[in-house]
Amino acid sequence: MKAELTLEGVCKSFETPGGLLTILDGVDLSLSRGDAVAITGPSGVGKSTLLYLIGGLEPPSSGLVEVLGRNVWSLGPQELAEFRNQSVGFVFQDHYLLPQLNVLENVLVPAIVKHGVDARTRDRAKKLLDRVGLGLRAGHRPDQLSGGERQRAALCRALINDPLILLADEPTGNLDPATATTIGSLLLELAREQSMILLTVTHSQELAGRFPRNLMLLAGKLTDRPPTVAPEGARS
Ligand SMILES: Nc1ncnc2c1ncn2[C@@H]1O[C@H](COP(=O)(O)OP(=O)(O)O)[C@@H](O)[C@H]1O
Ligand SMILES: [Mg+2]
Repeated sequence: MKAELTLEGVCKSFETPGGLLTILDGVDLSLSRGDAVAITGPSGVGKSTLLYLIGGLEPPSSGLVEVLGRNVWSLGPQELAEFRNQSVGFVFQDHYLLPQLNVLENVLVPAIVKHGVDARTRDRAKKLLDRVGLGLRAGHRPDQLSGGERQRAALCRALINDPLILLADEPTGNLDPATATTIGSLLLELAREQSMILLTVTHSQELAGRFPRNLMLLAGKLTDRPPTVAPEGARS
């Protein structure tokens, strides 16, 4: 069966005062429902840029990003907005929850954009919050939560519209190691349960080592590398 997400010859350059800066230089990738990959690579190499052009946030300079047989970057503005809202869930290093809304309301924001909120959607949001252990925090505002709880709420918000693709950009970067492990487990478990495609950018060798497939971005190219787990005592 054809992969639901395909990148072919994707290139990305930025005009800078010093000349053209080429970040991605021919990236090919094929992922199907249930695939989970961790992407690593040095800072500034283009990992976030790669997620943005898969998620419909930033266009490639050339090449093809295809989801379910549709070229994402040939969609009109309305279709592209729908793609971002309905086919993609994003989790960032910062949670970006709205401070004036409670947890349940934050989770429902993408559903409001999609079709408004009915009892079934509200029920789904509550089930997701239960699933990540926030059932009793639904009425709390973000500033009443810990960092890990905020990130779990952000994960529920990313999942409320049942996306095909879950993109996580250093989702554990601001968390202590134990909390990071919990978030990593939830990402992997929920992506598998809902048969999504999961791409996670991470600097954590521990997190990357738990993914079935590891990719490395270096000098504009994406290559497979065997998953490695940091040796005991090597963690900084
Ligand atoms: N809009 C932009 N204009 C110019 N350069 C950019 C822009 N966005 C990102 N870059 C540059 O592209 C490179 C890759 O950025 P990024 O994808 O954020 O890297 P990473 O996530 O791997 O740290 C960096 O050198 C960054 O400065
Ligand atoms: Mg980045």
